[in-house]
Amino acid sequence: MIKLTHECYWDQTSQTVSLNNHSVMLSSKMRKLLKIFIDHHGKPIAPADFFYSIWDDDNNDYNPKHIRNLISNLRIKLPCLTIVNYYGGRYALMKNEESIPDFKDYLIEILDQAKNGITISDPNKFDNPIIYVNHAFTSLFGYTSEEALDKNCRFLQRDDRDQLALDEIRYAIKVKTDVTVILRNYHKEGQLIYNEVTISPIFDKKTHKLKYFLGVQKDVTSLQKILQQIKGIV
Ligand SMILES: Cc1cc2nc3c(=O)[nH]c(=O)nc-3n(C[C@H](O)[C@H](O)[C@H](O)COP(=O)(O)O)c2cc1C
Repeated sequence: MIKLTHECYWDQTSQTVSLNNHSVMLSSKMRKLLKIFIDHHGKPIAPADFFYSIWDDDNNDYNPKHIRNLISNLRIKLPCLTIVNYYGGRYALMKNEESIPDFKDYLIEILDQAKNGITISDPNKFDNPIIYVNHAFTSLFGYTSEEALDKNCRFLQRDDRDQLALDEIRYAIKVKTDVTVILRNYHKEGQLIYNEVTISPIFDKKTHKLKYFLGVQKDVTSLQKILQQIKGIV
């Protein structure tokens, strides 16, 4: 369900609109028109582009008047929409900032589907606990997000705390800078995982205050094992 404006929703599955909880009857051409507007919200579209997408199954010759009429009928049916005319005859459905989703609304989804582990920690809370882990993190280390959240990421090291790279992390966190190191971490079932982790501070753009740390975890176990074998040979 996409919120077009206050009290006006577009159901992508049934391709219907409801206004103040009442469904609004639209002709199939109007529905196609509205779908194109929604898919390109905020971007001007030429009448010819509308025409050939809407009259796709007819052998009609292009006629901008058909589009003008269709748009004015849509405006009558859905006065809540803001459809603007641009110089040159193009039209755009103006974006209602809090309604039509764009990629920002999918950011968590995007992070969740990333192939590397992603963690976010909150340095303004005691012991810099994890506040977000993505799916790749939970499948790499075998912990559920509930098990990982609110803990400091060091739990992945278990008792293997004598690692030089940890000093680099401590320093980077202290001076709020990026760092990339390879750590020995452990899966929930106990297997050793060589984890190439990059940790970056995230600042508030306006206040420049440190808000979060972003961690990106990459499994480099196979590579490390090959390197160790090579070292053993030479
Ligand atoms: C965002 C973020 C992600 C981190 N990811 C890992 C990780 O994947 N594995 C790990 O062993 N340590 C990770 N750390 C480092 C530990 O949390 C911790 O900073 C490190 O163990 C050094 O501090 P300590 O001496 O307090 O343990 C991460 C830290 C931050 C801030």
